[in-house]
Amino acid sequence: MEIKNVTVFGSGLMGAGIVQVSAHAGYNVTMVDVEQDFIDGGMKRISASLKRVLRKKHENKDDADAEFETVFGRIKATTSRKEGAEGADLVVEAITENIDLKQELFKFLDENCPSHAIFASNTSSLPIRDLAKVTGRSDKIGGLHFFNPVPVMRLVEVIKSDDTSDNTHAALMTFGEAVGKKTVSCKDTPGFVVNRLLVPYLIEAVRMLERGDASAEDIDAAMKLGCGYPMGPMGLLDYVGLDTTKFILDGWHEAYPDEDLFAPSKLLDRLVEEGKLGRKSGEGFYNYKK
Ligand code: CAA
Ligand code: NAD
Repeated sequence: MEIKNVTVFGSGLMGAGIVQVSAHAGYNVTMVDVEQDFIDGGMKRISASLKRVLRKKHENKDDADAEFETVFGRIKATTSRKEGAEGADLVVEAITENIDLKQELFKFLDENCPSHAIFASNTSSLPIRDLAKVTGRSDKIGGLHFFNPVPVMRLVEVIKSDDTSDNTHAALMTFGEAVGKKTVSCKDTPGFVVNRLLVPYLIEAVRMLERGDASAEDIDAAMKLGCGYPMGPMGLLDYVGLDTTKFILDGWHEAYPDEDLFAPSKLLDRLVEEGKLGRKSGEGFYNYKK
């Protein structure tokens, strides 16, 4: 099936990035969020990031400006989810990591998208089968797990549940490659490949801080300089969003209560309760307001 029209639900950190790389690859893209303010924020992020990418691509400013206009012109944004659903060949869901919200959206999409449309979730941690089961088209549903920041990170995990058809999986692999990513095919297991390894590491770093074994700055310096990671775990947690990390951890703890690696963290819970969500709120383990 040929994909021309892509609709992305969610204009946050991930949704905006997915919109950007899709439009840059030549797709007509509609971005949907629940409030105009969120859409405005997403459009601003896309504009800044796309300019950054194009400045590097073109020596000549006029060429960069011309491509910016072309790519930006392929993006439409709306708070009407019906408008987003109609005419979509592919829907990429990148809304808040919450199973109830996502299931409600998938049900709506099933009822309002063309029958040929395929759906992919960008979930970090939820089983694709739990989203697919509320629809009547589980063969047309898979996962496209992008990484933050989407325009820079070169990977997309393409998830095939037991119900995802070979055709759908192939179409999602093709789309991942078309938006310039290396695709890795994954089974529908918790956290797929990257987050099954990354999230326990990040949470172990929080526990280390909670025990007072080392400061946030020293934990980050140790992993950057000792392992060559571009960011330390505390900085990366702030970059990903502490709310998103808590959603992931809480979901896994509920599903696997005996697994110590997924146990809740009081410090993470407290920061989220205080609205300290990381870079997006201006404060997390570090303060970004200064
Ligand atoms: N848009 C476009 N370009 C961007 C960008 C953005 N949002 N952010 C950074 N860049 C580009 C810059 O232009 C720069 O390019 P050049 O080197 O060619 O000039 C390059 O990326 C590096 O940027 P900076 O110099 O500003 O900063 P940096 O060197 O510290 O890199 C970073 C920033 C790319 C984010 C880097 O720190 C990094 O790779 N961090 C780790 C990110 C990571 O691990 N992401 C995965 C998170 S986990 C996840 O996503 C899964 C999940 O489900 C939670
Ligand atoms: P975010 O909080 O930055 O953005 C989520 C957006 O979804 C918000 O703008 C919110 O208003 C919107 N939204 C909520 N319900 C909606 C609905 N019903 N319809 C339309 N929009 C709705 O979150 P994010 O970091 O972009 O994460 C989005 C998804 O991507 C989550 O599933 C997350 O687990 C996953 N993810 C996150 C990262 C990361 O590093 N932050 C990386 C990979 C995957």
